[in-house]
Amino acid sequence: MGWFSSDIHNVDDLFVHSLQDIYYAEHQIQKSLPDMVAKASDAELKKGLRAHLTQTKAQIKRLDQAFKKLKMKPEGTKCPAIDGIIQEANEIAGEIDDKMVLNAALIAAAQAVEHYEITRYGTLVAWARLLGHTDVAKLLAMNLKEEKATDKKLNGIAKRKINKKALARRKPSQRELEKTENAMLVAAAGIPAFG
Ligand SMILES: [Fe+2]
Ligand SMILES: [Fe+2]
Repeated sequence: MGWFSSDIHNVDDLFVHSLQDIYYAEHQIQKSLPDMVAKASDAELKKGLRAHLTQTKAQIKRLDQAFKKLKMKPEGTKCPAIDGIIQEANEIAGEIDDKMVLNAALIAAAQAVEHYEITRYGTLVAWARLLGHTDVAKLLAMNLKEEKATDKKLNGIAKRKINKKALARRKPSQRELEKTENAMLVAAAGIPAFG
């Protein structure tokens, strides 16, 4: 099915297209998560990403079930959005040499993935209900719930420590160094400091 082609005639087709889109996306996420686990140096982040890999595999199984319930063969359709998010994450990670900054970048990338999944599953649940696919909607809602929980968990790790650790790796600017040097000279001379 191509973008803006005449393959999508109605909401049913649009729903199936979106289901195939997330099916492809979940497989790409499944492929990219081990690399993210390897790159992460924080034990909690590593554990969280690893747990989400297990969750992702279960989510794919739910999608398989969803296709089965719709009496369709599970199939993916290329999703340029998830490819772009993953590609950008890899490019950025390749440019970072500081481990703490890399951890912050990995969380940001993982949250971008989660947000993409949340928007897709949100729409899919709504459309599945609208089209009367109640069982399929339940399966998709389970995936949506997990994506939201993962996003929240990642947010917690980032706020609680990863971002702070990344911030602590900042080198003092030249001006800050000059200020400290100046204060030390002034203190040594026994005169009050200005500026
Ligand atoms: Fe997922
Ligand atoms: Fe996810």
